[in-house]
Amino acid sequence: MYKRTHHCGELQTSNISEKIQLNGWVNTVRLHGQVVFVDLRDRFGKTQLVFNADSFSGDFDAVKKLSMEDVLSIKGKVQARDESAINPEMKTGEIEVNISEYIMLNEAAPLPFVLSNRENAEENLRLKYRYLELRMEELQKNMLIRHETYQFVRSYLSEKNFIEIETPMLMKSTPEGARDYLVPSRIHKGKFYALPQSPQLYKQILMISGYDRYFQIVKCFRDEDLRADRQPEFTQIDMELSFVDEEDIFEKMEGLTKHVFNKVINIDLPDSFPRMTYADAMENYGSDKPDLRYEMKLLDVKSFTDASDFNAFKSAEKVKAIRVNDGAKYSRKNIDELTDFVKKYKAKGLAWMKGDDGKFVGGISKFFSEDIQKSMWKNLGMNEGDILFMIGDESKITLNALGHLRVKIAKRESLANSGDFKPVWITEFPMFDYDDEAKRFVAIHHPFTAPREIDLILLDTEPGKALSRGYDLTMNGYEIAGGSIRIHSPKIQEKVFSLLGLSKEEAIEKFGFLVEALSYGAPPHGGIAFGFDRLVMLLAGTENIRDVIAFPKTTSATSLMDESPSNVNTIQLDELGIQIKSIKN
Ligand code: AMO
Repeated sequence: MYKRTHHCGELQTSNISEKIQLNGWVNTVRLHGQVVFVDLRDRFGKTQLVFNADSFSGDFDAVKKLSMEDVLSIKGKVQARDESAINPEMKTGEIEVNISEYIMLNEAAPLPFVLSNRENAEENLRLKYRYLELRMEELQKNMLIRHETYQFVRSYLSEKNFIEIETPMLMKSTPEGARDYLVPSRIHKGKFYALPQSPQLYKQILMISGYDRYFQIVKCFRDEDLRADRQPEFTQIDMELSFVDEEDIFEKMEGLTKHVFNKVINIDLPDSFPRMTYADAMENYGSDKPDLRYEMKLLDVKSFTDASDFNAFKSAEKVKAIRVNDGAKYSRKNIDELTDFVKKYKAKGLAWMKGDDGKFVGGISKFFSEDIQKSMWKNLGMNEGDILFMIGDESKITLNALGHLRVKIAKRESLANSGDFKPVWITEFPMFDYDDEAKRFVAIHHPFTAPREIDLILLDTEPGKALSRGYDLTMNGYEIAGGSIRIHSPKIQEKVFSLLGLSKEEAIEKFGFLVEALSYGAPPHGGIAFGFDRLVMLLAGTENIRDVIAFPKTTSATSLMDESPSNVNTIQLDELGIQIKSIKN
């Protein structure tokens, strides 16, 4: 191999006449009779090579057989391209390298897919050959954005007096919401470690130990149903601070977010981020992570439907609507598709009416008198050609289904500008949600989240109404961070455990060490964790979390490249004292 003098994204007109050496992959080969053009690629860019039969002393037939992804080492002389061949899109587009000698470092076998366009191959095939897909420009750009994000986060936090501390990957199973990934112990047969769902307990304990302002860029593991923005192992920027309230956290996290957006993609976010209560977010957007790049708020129409002759909504707890600009163009088939869509969110159906000549037409419009129609038209801000979609149901169902419909329609109508970034803090979450099936409360954030001081009393009387000191940072419809001010009183912590249905014994068994630690001088503290992958998704402009992770898992939590999870042999199982009961596939 010739030692490279430059990389492939570097040579300029100032290098003309220099003798240089490059190493890289064959990106493309173009045969023009006695001249062969090859684009040689490495991580830094591409350089056009010219093999000219007249001046090249080696085996020209072999040059003609070069194929994509062969690995070459070349020697040559930089020359200016012909005027007509200059490529302003390419960093090295004004020059080319006339090759005198080359070494084939490694021939590439025929490729399972062409590396020029990701869309050409099914995702599963690309994931199986992830090392090839990772050679593509789009993923290389994403990995670079990810790398820069790590660096800017670390330097910013370190500058602000945060210290990075690693916490264990093998810990006690302390379910936080999702299922744990368990790791069997060989030494203590029958016992298991769990991989952390997050370093939540450790970081609180670090506050108790006096390590104010901790951070860690850390892998977390959750065995849960996967979606486009979820992975079983993902990365958090995890932080915890002592002697703080919400305002301190908001200010510091806004600073961090602004810094990262500015440095990585040169976008200036607003000085301070808007805030919205959970209740308002649900009422107006049907989501606790509203995409504020477009309006289309949920409108209250219960008073109108109650006054109409349309009876199906009379007993509904909540009737809401969204008004879609220019939506009267929707065909029956379009509306049927949207109806099927909202049914996935438990809505019984999707009522609609179109705006035409100052009146409502079609759908359920015939049940609304002229007077009601007039009043609705004015109050709901209807325009000619709009469509009104309505859902009436239990409050939760109405809001959730319409919230999803809002996002679906915004996508369909391309309402969101991809260059816009709209951060918003969501605050005043309820402490608990009631799980109808399990007949008990579950924590909306996690069991260590403090209730608002004024709601402490509600823990005894109406826990369902207590609001917490939890907060989420959301942007463009994604929850990019979540956190809270924590409980630092052992008494309140015990109370919350008991409301979550944990008996005293269970609480001690699972979290006893935390409750005990709280009794040895725990400072008031709070923190937050950013979903690092989600942050990078926004920075890279992709909606697929797999695009920003080098070796992601599929939605069924498998790795197609190394074929994990996989069977292990009986010797390994015996050592762990494990016997497989049955395998259902
Ligand atoms: P939470 O569970 O809200 O909080 O997680 C914090 C952030 O992590 C991201 N996230 C995920 N990203 C990808 N795949 C997943 N499966 C996944 N799950 C969560 C989200 C989310 O906002 N210990 C608390 C934080 C705290 O209270 O300080 C916690 O983990 O962007």
